[in-house]
Amino acid sequence: MSASKAEKPSTKKKTAPAAASDEIIAEAVPAAKAKKATPAKKARTAKTASGAVKADKPAKEKAAATKDDKPAKAKAAPAKKAKAEKAEPAPVKKPRTRKPKAAPAEPAEEAPIVPVAEEAPAAPVAEEIPAAPAVEEAPAEETPAPEPVIDYSTPRRSVAFIGSECYPFVKTGGLGDVMYALPRALVKQNCDVKVILPRYKCIPWEYQEKMVYRGAFDMDLCADGKSYYVGIMEYVWDGVVYDFIDNDEFFSWGKPYTDLVEDIPKFCYFAKAALAALNFLDWTPDIIHCHDWQAALVPVYLRTLFADTKLARARTILTIHNLKFQGIYSIPHIKYWSGLPDYVFNKDALTTNWVDANMFKGGLTYANAITTVSPTYAWEIQTPEYGETLDAHLRYHAGKLRGIVNGIDCETWDPWTDQRLPVNYDITNVLDRKKENKRALQEELGLEQDDGKFVLGLISRLTDQKGLDLLNAIIPQIMDGNTQLVVLGTGDKVYEDSFRYYENAYKGAVCSNIMYDETRAHHIYAGADALLVPSRFEPCGLTQLTAMRYGTVPIVRETGGLKDTVEPYNVYTNTGNGFTFDRYDAGLLLDAVNRAKTLYFTNRWCWDEMVQRDMDKDVSWERSAEQYKYLYLELT
Ligand code: ADP
Ligand code: GLC
Repeated sequence: MSASKAEKPSTKKKTAPAAASDEIIAEAVPAAKAKKATPAKKARTAKTASGAVKADKPAKEKAAATKDDKPAKAKAAPAKKAKAEKAEPAPVKKPRTRKPKAAPAEPAEEAPIVPVAEEAPAAPVAEEIPAAPAVEEAPAEETPAPEPVIDYSTPRRSVAFIGSECYPFVKTGGLGDVMYALPRALVKQNCDVKVILPRYKCIPWEYQEKMVYRGAFDMDLCADGKSYYVGIMEYVWDGVVYDFIDNDEFFSWGKPYTDLVEDIPKFCYFAKAALAALNFLDWTPDIIHCHDWQAALVPVYLRTLFADTKLARARTILTIHNLKFQGIYSIPHIKYWSGLPDYVFNKDALTTNWVDANMFKGGLTYANAITTVSPTYAWEIQTPEYGETLDAHLRYHAGKLRGIVNGIDCETWDPWTDQRLPVNYDITNVLDRKKENKRALQEELGLEQDDGKFVLGLISRLTDQKGLDLLNAIIPQIMDGNTQLVVLGTGDKVYEDSFRYYENAYKGAVCSNIMYDETRAHHIYAGADALLVPSRFEPCGLTQLTAMRYGTVPIVRETGGLKDTVEPYNVYTNTGNGFTFDRYDAGLLLDAVNRAKTLYFTNRWCWDEMVQRDMDKDVSWERSAEQYKYLYLELT
């Protein structure tokens, strides 16, 4: 197809019918109205019928709690840095000191996450903690979300985010978190942000039903000009517009990624459809910000098949979240599916190893700027050790490469307002209340209940990236009778099985939760004393940031973003945020764990100070969003 055809596409025919998803939508449509509609029309009718004009903020966000029961000072604690001056917004909802007896285990309005590796098995239900005065909980109030406070000091820029996952619609890891939190932070930096995502079938119905039909057209994709349906479903939430690309042929699977045979055509289609949708909506952003290999063909399409469209005036950024996955397949396969001209299949762009095409490599060549998610990873990927065979290519493009460290969404992750926690806390009372969360976690997981035990957590995809072979090698040495280990994750069978083995070998001291469970992750962040992140490589890492926000001390390997965000504890100056080790070596990990234990058991005062320092650390998106904004301004 020519790019111009993409710009003015026909809306009449749907080549690849989105039958399955339309069936779901059609359920909400009165039979008479849905009767004659094509599947695409049914979707449109459904939205009109339900009167959904603008998507609404999920109830949970509306009921966001604010502080009003600031507890008395931390007990005999070295709370030097306690933020006594913290602002006290108008009270909306009381944070809990204990979960009220009658409270449902899971708030009904909880934003679900789509588990990818495996269905979460029925989790043991946490028993209520007895004998505590239940603090009355205000009902969730339907107050509208406060308008974001926008910093108008820099000129406004419009940005299209293009990526393959985004919390709370679909998430398999940190990319989903970033696609959610960074656009929201950019809105506050005076940006107009549209996020373009695939409309996967697995997106929870509570979001699907709020999507509004914005139009549809046909787009040719392959080298032989095969035509595909592109539908656009829109959802507006907190100042960010989410446009979902609808096509059941590509996105009807239960999970976002399957295997490369499926994924290569899927993300060729997605990259081209995202640009065609922008043209269709007649929205030309200043910046098109693409994420990982799944969106890497966007800059290539823009400078080739879309070069004669209005959209071509946009500047592109490609962010590397993980260089391990590049979208590599045979040249004929990618040439066929992408429909890209022959000349992009050269060794400086898409061609790799002479016979394969590499979608990430092509995107890196054509993007106006490349970013990755920490300065250290930006440096590391230019070395053969971390470059995943693209180190020379990245060295060549080093002039347009920079690292900007990730943050976390401090509203979602706030131990003071976190509705999933048994007990809420902040820096002034963390030392007491974390113990209560620890006991609740031990009870929930069937571990020996003793807040004197040192609880180590691990929340991770269970893959080679995460340094799990190091951890597996030292578990017997860690288990000293005073230490407990809580694992949460899914992934490679070898790791799932070894953690199951250790749970069995150390009953009551090790708990392996081989599942994806957002609520349990919150419980572990709040209830553990320390969180392990011994990664082989880690572009940024979000779990160590969340851990610090929850007063849980990170134990990390000095690589990528872990090195940039965790300052090693210095026993002489009593400074730092966590325990670190450098070489990828099990003995060094053990040493770091032992140093943490020594401080915890022999110098609790200094440990507690570190807990408070961690909670005080700025892990928000604010500074990094500012850096992205400056990059946008630089490019435009
Ligand atoms: P990666 O993106 O490499 O997986 P990150 O540290 O950037 O690693 O992000 C992982 C995200 O996924 C974090 O938000 C973490 O809390 C979450 N997470 C990982 N595994 C699980 C799990 N099994 N259950 C719930 N959340 C998980
Ligand atoms: C990737 C990386 C992780 C990073 C995340 C978000 O999945 O593995 O380190 O935090 O992307 O950028």
